[in-house]
Amino acid sequence: MHPAVSRLTLDEKLSLLTGDTFWSTRSVEHAGVDGALLTDGPHGVRLQSGSADHLGLNESEPATAFPTAAATGSTWDPELLEEMGRALGRESRALGVDVLLGPGVNIKRSPLCGRNFEYFSEDPLLAGSLGAGWVRGIQSQGVGASLKHFAANNQETERMRVSAEVDERTLREIYLPAFERAVTDAQPATVMCSYNRINGVYASQNRWLLTDVLRDEWGYEGYVVSDWGAVVDPPAAVAAGLDLTMPAAGERHAQDVRAALEAGELDETAVDLAVSRILTVHDRLREGRGETEAVDVDAHHALARRIAAESSVLLANDGGLLPLAADASIAVVGEFARTPRYQGAGSSHINPTRLDTALDAVRAAASAEVPFAAGFRLDGREDAALVDEAVAAARAAAVVVLFLGLPDEEESEGFDRTHIDLPAVQRSLLDAVLAVNERVVVVLSNGSVVSLDGIAGRVPAILETWLGGQASGSAVADVLFGAAEPGGRLAETIPLRLADNPAHVNFPGTPKEVVYGERVYVGYRWYDRTEREVAFPFGFGLGYTTFALSDLAVSVPDPARAHAVVEITATNTGDRAGSEVVQVYVGDPEASVDRPVRELRAFRKVRLAAGESARVRLELDERAFAFWGGSGWTVEPGAFAIEVGTSSRDIAASAGIALDVPAPVFPLDVGSTVGDWRRHPVGAAMLDDAIAEAGGQAAAIVADEEMARMLESMPLRTLLGFGGEIDGTAAVEDLLAKV
Ligand code: BGC
Repeated sequence: MHPAVSRLTLDEKLSLLTGDTFWSTRSVEHAGVDGALLTDGPHGVRLQSGSADHLGLNESEPATAFPTAAATGSTWDPELLEEMGRALGRESRALGVDVLLGPGVNIKRSPLCGRNFEYFSEDPLLAGSLGAGWVRGIQSQGVGASLKHFAANNQETERMRVSAEVDERTLREIYLPAFERAVTDAQPATVMCSYNRINGVYASQNRWLLTDVLRDEWGYEGYVVSDWGAVVDPPAAVAAGLDLTMPAAGERHAQDVRAALEAGELDETAVDLAVSRILTVHDRLREGRGETEAVDVDAHHALARRIAAESSVLLANDGGLLPLAADASIAVVGEFARTPRYQGAGSSHINPTRLDTALDAVRAAASAEVPFAAGFRLDGREDAALVDEAVAAARAAAVVVLFLGLPDEEESEGFDRTHIDLPAVQRSLLDAVLAVNERVVVVLSNGSVVSLDGIAGRVPAILETWLGGQASGSAVADVLFGAAEPGGRLAETIPLRLADNPAHVNFPGTPKEVVYGERVYVGYRWYDRTEREVAFPFGFGLGYTTFALSDLAVSVPDPARAHAVVEITATNTGDRAGSEVVQVYVGDPEASVDRPVRELRAFRKVRLAAGESARVRLELDERAFAFWGGSGWTVEPGAFAIEVGTSSRDIAASAGIALDVPAPVFPLDVGSTVGDWRRHPVGAAMLDDAIAEAGGQAAAIVADEEMARMLESMPLRTLLGFGGEIDGTAAVEDLLAKV
């Protein structure tokens, strides 16, 4: 218990369970308690000195707008995110912020989620590893992170009341592991619970989630803060393990908790514990701080620029159209080149320290004149004069760089998209440009996947830059002219059609309920299992050089333990330096339950000079082989496939291994099948005798070879009872007593 707790009156303790203001917690001078400042987050510091809001409405202090998580998800580089986290930590310190509200590690279940720009990936390992790097970076500066939104907040529609109906296996394998990894690897100072309900229970008052899983299983040491306004029932929230209700909830919060204490419905130790956790975290953060450094705004801008280039994914580059020569005859077309779309809308909205445009940056990098035509209006209204002007510019140039993307209004916190198409004015502009010049490079800015129907296969080069932060304009020029490599690889599949998405028929559900009917088959797990064609697979991205993966060696030091070491040689086979992401997938073809064909279990981004090779070594731990088997993680003995490649569809080498781990024992009950009994280490030995004793038809059925497969899923009590000579249920109950 934090020592200050014993010096506080009950009223004071209750006052510490909620905010003092929209963004701060209370101080209690006589007890030596200092309030703390929490603010958004995640991609920059949004400190409001004037009117406060959590919808991104009012101005905030200038801060570096780093690339959004949609972009950084594509870096596949946890160390780079750690570096970004350190910069975010320095800026937080300089502005007096104690806790920065991010990162968000929710899984991209559907491309329609309005807030996908704030999340990393459709894959939990990737999301969790990147989130952990970010948390480490921020916290190295004595500033707390807030891992959000815990949990199953995968849509914005009805986010404040919808119940995510998800079975436990799916939660454990898909929606929780990114949180788990960030918690166990990096111990974020705070975890922010989501608004939604999970299987009927609000996250803010979900004891299973906030206490049993987060603290008891994962060993979480920080405090849980509510999303802004997420607490519905304050005493239930405190009882469940929620510590801080934000923002300031006024006297009503204290009154409700006091009433529950007086009625004996809540124990005061729950209040003490919550206060203690909040104060302990704030103290630890302050103790961990050195001197506050002045922020080097230029250096942070340069870092944002580097990360943006590392985030951009080159999807197509036919004939090596990119990189462009500085003296190439280029026309820049598209309003986004002049008016960049570089961040998302809502609570994460940053007031940037400066803003680069791609148009200025391209002009600065090019040695020839670069004409520009806007081509379309951002409000989506048709404008024939703009199209004519763009066509004229395109006709006169050797190469057209065409900036397309989603305008601000199309994706935001608070609502979801209803389609994944680019605005019609942009699609028709592309047609008009292509009619006069086929050498088109499409540069995309969007926070979530857009359909590339009509683009992929029609234009030679496509560069997806996501929402790349305040320096995205210069980063695009760096990539276009080859000063930087397009370092990104897709953190989410780009489907051919929205209707191919596994959540399609269950998104966003009815007002109060959304059923996660696709279960663990999210993203590539679904596309690969159903052998569906995709526009671009998970993990995919081109560079300006080429790589080969060779000499795969997979060793299992001790087959009785689920642990393998994967080694492969990566060679840069091109003539310039570059990077590639080595991805290791595991499949379990002999599993007793349905499992995805392959799941990402390890990855490493390698940077190599032209012609250089490196041996990459990655370890697979027990979890890499496990599925959630009802009451815990389960690894079954038998064959596993280890695949190494550069996307879920580009597997360069694969190897089979066999694990000789003990077979999991599933407890027998009165309804267990003959198959269950056969697989049970004790039950198996009793089976033959029990069948012989039962007499009747049972022995004859077992002797019949054709019946063998049918018996597998026949309850033993049914078999023993055939013929009516004995009571099958009673016989099984006797056996169970002996087992
Ligand atoms: C968002 C959070 C944010 C909070 C404070 C909420 O509406 O969901 O992500 O941190 O507001 O602005």
